[in-house]
Formats: sequence, structure tokens, C-alpha cells
Amino acid sequence: MAEFDFIRAAYGKPHQRVPIWIMRQAGRYLPQYRAVREKVSFLELCRSPELMATVTKQPIDIFGFDAAIMFSDILLPLEPMGIKLAYENGGPTLSPAVQNPDDVKRLETYDPAEEMAHVLAGIREIKTRLDDVVPLIGFAGSPFTLACYLVEGGGSWQFYEIKRFIYKHPRAATHLLEHLAELTGRYLKEQINAGVNAVQLFDSWGGILPPDAYREFSLPYIKTAFEICKTEGIPRILYLNNSAPYLKLLADLDCEVVSVDWRTDLLEAAGILDGRALQGNLDPHLLFAPPETVYQQAVRILEDMAGKDNFIFNLGHGILPETPVDNVHLLVNTVHSFTWTEKTTPLKK
Ligand code: CP3
Repeated sequence: MAEFDFIRAAYGKPHQRVPIWIMRQAGRYLPQYRAVREKVSFLELCRSPELMATVTKQPIDIFGFDAAIMFSDILLPLEPMGIKLAYENGGPTLSPAVQNPDDVKRLETYDPAEEMAHVLAGIREIKTRLDDVVPLIGFAGSPFTLACYLVEGGGSWQFYEIKRFIYKHPRAATHLLEHLAELTGRYLKEQINAGVNAVQLFDSWGGILPPDAYREFSLPYIKTAFEICKTEGIPRILYLNNSAPYLKLLADLDCEVVSVDWRTDLLEAAGILDGRALQGNLDPHLLFAPPETVYQQAVRILEDMAGKDNFIFNLGHGILPETPVDNVHLLVNTVHSFTWTEKTTPLKK
């Protein structure tokens, strides 16, 4: 089995060069992805193992990223709970929304090996096509983030509904989150059985909570999901958007990598999460800047993390649809040409 730099970095083991992949690396900023999407809807794409594999591999072939992330969506595992999912004009809608404690009781449970079989088949197809050149990352939404969408009935900028729900119905919220944590952990475990080399939980919205509420309504369910899927040699990554206020709370979470957003100071995070690998955190909007700025900002991050074996380069959140592709090439090349010994030497372009 090849020893991937990405996996070595996740465990803080010495490796050759800084690994880089980016969240949403397969997506609308790529003309090759848009060409596939012209022919099929987003859900059709997610349900086809063949097409999943095609678009998962596109950014690997185009940019030479150090890891692939399976093409799918965090909301798909909500469908077998009895939720109708639609993606219209980019935004997801879920119906019926969870509005009161009785709605929580109506949510179904299921076996991910059966109901998510199309994703697992996609993983096996992707693994065949990647041919062990790069590792494959599987993923799921954090229980709290999934609850945000379930209660809101779709996307939102603020997710006010979930806050009202958890404060008004804390017991029902706990049941909902327990249910989601169990399913999420088992789903990740099935992804590992199907062949993924690492798993990432996206806590995209946990950062809307006051720290006390984060400790009560997000963190314990991440712990449960990570416990269920814990597997020797398979690093578990937590991405938390707006992570800065919660870093101390994450310090005793049993996971290998913490992925931080662009607001978070990497060195400060490294200090608090001592020993844990870090992933991040270039602001995705910086990829709209002139190439010199992209280069300088990437080097700033690389210099901050120089000498650390436990760092994985990524963006602080998903890449945006209109991002210029040339800047992504520049970013990957900058990261790959940086080596520890060059720390004090200005890099050549
Ligand atoms: O990273 C990758 O390349 C893998 C694929 C991936 C998608 N979604 C594909 C997608 C991953 C890892 C996700 C995660 C996801 N999905 C998150 C967590 C990450 C984050 O951004 O915070 C969330 C919150 C979702 C839910 C979701 N899916 C929303 C809110 C939307 C609509 C907004 C948008 O970006 O369009 C989606 C749709 C979606 N998921 C698209 C893609 C490529 C766009 C669909 C299209 O092709 O039209």
C-alpha cells in the first residue's frame, strides 16, 4: 500500500512535500464539471457511480491535488429518513421540515449499507479509477449541520430556526442529534469499508452557536460519529467553519485532523490543538486576487506552518463557483514547490 503524503501529514509523520486538496474541488468553477452537469441534474450526478467517479477524478488530473474527495453531498443521507430533497437554482430544499418534536419521531432510521449503496458503489468505482495514485476522502455532514438543514427545510444564511428549536425543545433536539450521530457514524464506517482512506465531517454551521451550546448540541454528536467510524490507519478530519471561538473545546476531541476556516489564526490553532494535524485555511475569495497576491498569501501560510509535519494545505471553506482556474494551478504549484528548507529563502516563482 502506497504511503500517501496526505495520510502521513494527517498523522504528523515526516513526508516529502506539503499536501494540498481543496474543499469543493470538483465543482462549478471547472469547465469539465459544467460539461457533465449540462447533461444531468445534480442529483442524477450524485446517484451515478460512473459520473461520481468521473467528476471526482477531474481535479486530480487537472491540478495534481494530493487527495481526492468523493463527489456527493452532505444532504443525501437525509433522504432515506423520509425527507424529500431537491436542488433548485443551486439551493437545496428539504421537505417536510422538522418543526416540532413529533416530526423528530417520524424520521425513519435505516441501514446505510443498503440505502446509501449507490454512494458506496461510487466509492469502489472511484478507487478503481484512482488506482492508488492519490488517497480518497469520504465525508458526511456533522449531526448539528444536518439538523440545521432539516429544521430550516433548506439553506439559509443564518439558520435561526435550528437555534429556536434547540432552545425551545432541547429534549427533542437531543433525540434528533442522537439519531443523526448514529446514522452518520455508521455511514462513515460503510464508506471506510468501501475503500475511502480518510473521512471528513463538515460542521459548516456549528459556528452559529454560543460556545456552551456548541459543547451541548454539536460536539458530543461529532464525538459519537467519530467513535463509531474509528478505524486504524483512517484519519478523521473535522472541518469547523468559524472555528476560532471553539478551539479550546476541540482540544480533547478524539480525531486526527482539525480543518479551520479563514478567520482562524493557524499558529494560534496549532498552539491550542497541540499535536493534532491542522488543515486550512486560505480565504477562498483570495483566489480572485491577482496571481502575485495568491502567491504571497499561500507563502504566508506555508511559512507559518514551515517545519510542521502535521499540516495539510486547504482553503478555509469551499472554492467558489467563479474562481479563476489559473489561480488554482498557481496555488497548487506554489504549495508543491515549497519545502521546509526553503523557509528563510524567498521562493522562486
Ligand atoms: O468537495 C467536493 O468536491 C465534494 C463534493 C461536495 C459537494 N458538497 C458537492 C456540491 C461536498 C464535500 C459538499 C459538502 C456540502 N454540501 C456542505 C459542507 C461544506 C460547506 O460548503 O460548508 C454543505 C453545507 C452542502 C449542502 C449544499 N449542497 C448546498 C448548500 C448546496 C447549494 C449551494 C451550492 O454551493 O450550490 C449544495 C449543492 C452542491 N453540492 C453543489 C456541489 C458541486 C452544486 C450543485 C451544482 O452542480 O449545481
